[in-house]
Amino acid sequence: MGQSKSSASASSAPVPQVPSASSSQQKSNTNTDAMNSNRNNEAAAAAAALAGSESNASLSAEEKEARKAEKKAAKAAEKAAKEEAKRLRAEEEQKKRKLAGGVGFEVMQQPPVKLEPPSGTRDFYPDDYRLQTWLFDKFHAAARASGFELFDAPVLERQELYKRKAGEEITSQMYGFVDGDGEEVTLRPEMTPTLARMALGRAHSQILPLKWYSIPQCWRYEAIQRGRKREHYQWNVDIIGCRSVSAEVELLSTAVFFFKSVGITNADVKIKVNSRKVMGDVLAAAGVPTESFAPVCVILDKLDKIGAEAVEEQLLEVAKLPADVSKRVLAVLACPNLDALRTLAKDSGVSDGEGMKDLESVFELANAYGFGDWLKFDASLVRGLAYYTGVVFEAFDVRGELRAIMGGGRYDRLLSLYGAMTEVPACGFGFGDCVIVELLKERGQLPHLPRNVDVVVAPFSADMQGPAMTVAAGLRAGGARVDLMLEAKKKAGAAFDYANRVGAEYIAFVAPNEFSQGKVRFKDLRVEDEDRKQVDLNLNELDRALDALGENRRLAKGLSSSMSALSLDASDTATLYGGVVRATLA
Ligand code: HAM
Repeated sequence: MGQSKSSASASSAPVPQVPSASSSQQKSNTNTDAMNSNRNNEAAAAAAALAGSESNASLSAEEKEARKAEKKAAKAAEKAAKEEAKRLRAEEEQKKRKLAGGVGFEVMQQPPVKLEPPSGTRDFYPDDYRLQTWLFDKFHAAARASGFELFDAPVLERQELYKRKAGEEITSQMYGFVDGDGEEVTLRPEMTPTLARMALGRAHSQILPLKWYSIPQCWRYEAIQRGRKREHYQWNVDIIGCRSVSAEVELLSTAVFFFKSVGITNADVKIKVNSRKVMGDVLAAAGVPTESFAPVCVILDKLDKIGAEAVEEQLLEVAKLPADVSKRVLAVLACPNLDALRTLAKDSGVSDGEGMKDLESVFELANAYGFGDWLKFDASLVRGLAYYTGVVFEAFDVRGELRAIMGGGRYDRLLSLYGAMTEVPACGFGFGDCVIVELLKERGQLPHLPRNVDVVVAPFSADMQGPAMTVAAGLRAGGARVDLMLEAKKKAGAAFDYANRVGAEYIAFVAPNEFSQGKVRFKDLRVEDEDRKQVDLNLNELDRALDALGENRRLAKGLSSSMSALSLDASDTATLYGGVVRATLA
């Protein structure tokens, strides 16, 4: 496989992976909690990255050398701390496993392959995946609540979709290569161009507006920081074919719905709103040539990251703006509110055009929807992607500690850039899976998501493995989540250990005596009452076992029966749907 220019830069560019603050700090993290250590390292690395990029220019050669050496030492300390954390984690896991009576395996000190995934990418172990599934479920629910339809596409895209020549970071961050057909392809860095391509691909059969959403994995070769990785999942919600700002408001409402659904309030998060159209007019009046507007926006987008001084430098050197124009541009960004911007626009001879009206409507309609207090005008928000043409927005944590949580806006000219005969109005947002999890973690709002199944089926002996499978099949036919023990254990205690480990509600012991009488014995792992702890169910009623077991639990808790067909009582025997439910002494 050949390498394109961008792939060459992806594999060799010195992407800063900056070390964290001090090794002693890291060690204490490691000793207390290995997971925290990693997180803190990332945060410290982000801080060091920012500090480094802000002040490097003013350092002497020796100071730069010293800083380099410091960084190297910190990096080595970070690596050592990570390895120590890993060792401690492994020890901890081993202890837990022993306590749970489980078997496992050991790994060499120096295995022949790296066990971590590539830098900036994540493995999702089952524990992590439960959280990811929870998050995705919330994304799906919010999108569906507003009538958006799910779509997807290959992670591999053609590079041409992203080559927009405005100096956007995304173009240089592609994981690109030339495939066997000689085609320049890349792992997609974002989903919007794919959405545009797909909408154009079915242009003849689509009825506008399209309301589509997706949760693609996106790949960008960028500096690793807290909340910024080289792969991330990005919830994308877009509307194609609506010229009115009702579309932007609908999108913002969907994002707010999601925030609320995960317990985030407008005290935690605000959504900054501005308009590229308004900024275009005002900056043109300030002396920015029309053709320079998109590249200027790419530079202005870095304001939070690199500071006003560095932005001004880039406006002069990269965008080639005269000094007085650069100063005026920065003054525009400092406008504190919409009124001030309106006055500034008027003073510069810009009339109250469509852009300003749209911007005002966003705030008005958001009030009508009831989420106006989530929005905040911000003149410095322009977004770093070249294709935006109108209202733009970005969600931030109020404390200002994290990178953007979500960002989007109107991109009315992207589809015509790709071949639409006329301008097709479009807008949308991308919402990453990393920053929101950081925020929830920080607020202590991550959900508790233990492993969970309904029933563990435990064969009494090796020759009961077949009958145990019959029981598992019967239970699963009724919708139960069943974990069948794959080997019979000598001691019943091992089945209890296993059931605890997998978070089971019940154990079904499949033993020769009961089985020969057409019955299975269940133990309810959440019931204390010895009279109700054990329940025998008929083999041919297993598809309704969860109902019977649930009813037994209700009665054990002293609640009245919820089933008219059932006459379980505390004494012992009851009839359910003609089957036998026996609550006996354990
Ligand atoms: P973006 O601002 O580049 O916009 O990304 C949107 C969101 O994706 C960010 O706010 C952040 O949550 C997440 N994100 C981006 N890069 C990373 C990363 N390296 N690691 C973790 N999370 C990340 C777009 O991509 C536009 N295509 C969004 C859009 C959709 N505009 C219109 N429709």
